[in-house]
Amino acid sequence: MNENTAPRAHLPESAVLESALAADHPLVDGRTTSAPLIRALRGDRPDTTPVWFMRQAGRSLPEYREIRAHTPMLDACLDPELASEITLQPVRRHGVDAAVFFSDIVVPPLLAGVDVDLVAGRGPVFAEPVRTAADVARCRAEFTPERLREALDPVREAVRRTVTALGETPLIGFAGAPFTLAAYLVEGGPSRDHLRARTLMRSDPETWRELLEWVADLSSVFLEAQVEAGASAVQLFDSWAGSLSVADYRAHVAPASQRTLAAVQGIGAGSAASPTVPTIHFAVGSGHLIEETARLGTSALGVDWRTPLDEASRRLGDTLPLQGNLDPAVLGAPAAVLESAVADVIARGSRAPGHVLNLGHGVPPEADPAVLTRIVELAHAS
Ligand code: CP3
Repeated sequence: MNENTAPRAHLPESAVLESALAADHPLVDGRTTSAPLIRALRGDRPDTTPVWFMRQAGRSLPEYREIRAHTPMLDACLDPELASEITLQPVRRHGVDAAVFFSDIVVPPLLAGVDVDLVAGRGPVFAEPVRTAADVARCRAEFTPERLREALDPVREAVRRTVTALGETPLIGFAGAPFTLAAYLVEGGPSRDHLRARTLMRSDPETWRELLEWVADLSSVFLEAQVEAGASAVQLFDSWAGSLSVADYRAHVAPASQRTLAAVQGIGAGSAASPTVPTIHFAVGSGHLIEETARLGTSALGVDWRTPLDEASRRLGDTLPLQGNLDPAVLGAPAAVLESAVADVIARGSRAPGHVLNLGHGVPPEADPAVLTRIVELAHAS
């Protein structure tokens, strides 16, 4: 599959924007065009398997913990110098094939004006949960995408600095998928089964649709800012989609995720000369949703550790580049177990048109960074 036909074929007309990438964007001036990550996401087979790790910028690194000892999480996200430095740390240390922008899925609502914090050991906590039609209407009126766009300068600045330092290594931008963000907003914080969110979805589908559309637009604006400032690919993270049935995902969630992906795929789509920006769609625990997520249109699909990559590829007719999916549990296993697990993932991934090696979810804080460096060496030697 090639990037000029795949995502655009799925674009709703409204997504085809006038905007195009700037002349000094790394995908336009060619800095990252031949990077193994970009080639694999476009369905090609570079000489070595590209590898990066979700949550590579974070608590597994002593140099990260050193910075965070003096600075609260969201302050670090909004300080361009710190956010850029943290983004670069794992690239320097591990030699990964991509940086992932250090930020968080709650940064868009925060910058749009929503009262949210990241509580250590817990996760996102919203001061005022969004549960009724009136709550949703107030959020849509007050915390608008325009307000977010005007507050994104620290993110744009951090991305620009990072991209300059990275040279030929691509930066991956990211955002939370609408369902995951909406689940936190409705619950007010982390929850096991997202029951309140799913109850709202079932009992008031129209309010739910308006909530997801609003959140999708915040995530779209966040991704657009990262891409315009120089990100060469983006990943949409859906941490909680696995709690949904296929039918609910299709009816109540897929359109909003598609809206966000399409916003990125629309950049430059009006111009024959502009390259498109590859997208990765990753939903945790969603082996049952592989066909549904692929149908939304994406350059590549992230797969968690529960579904073998060859099986995922077979179910998709071997049409889509895949990313994943080493079980984070093997990071703590003996070297021989780790090595055979990496070899197994690379062998299964060879069935797909392209493969980006990654974990099946984020790096656990207690991971030994030397093990991550070893995985990069193994991938590059294979
Ligand atoms: O390296 C990277 O991947 C880039 C940075 C990144 C962070 N969060 C930094 C972070 C990314 C991509 C995210 C995404 C994110 N944030 C998701 C989706 C991905 C996933 O893992 O499923 C979700 C659900 C969140 C929400 C969130 N933010 C949680 C659940 C937590 C953990 C809270 C805790 O302390 O256990 C956070 C905080 C957070 N985001 C940290 C980091 C490095 C830890 C903060 C710290 O160092 O104290």
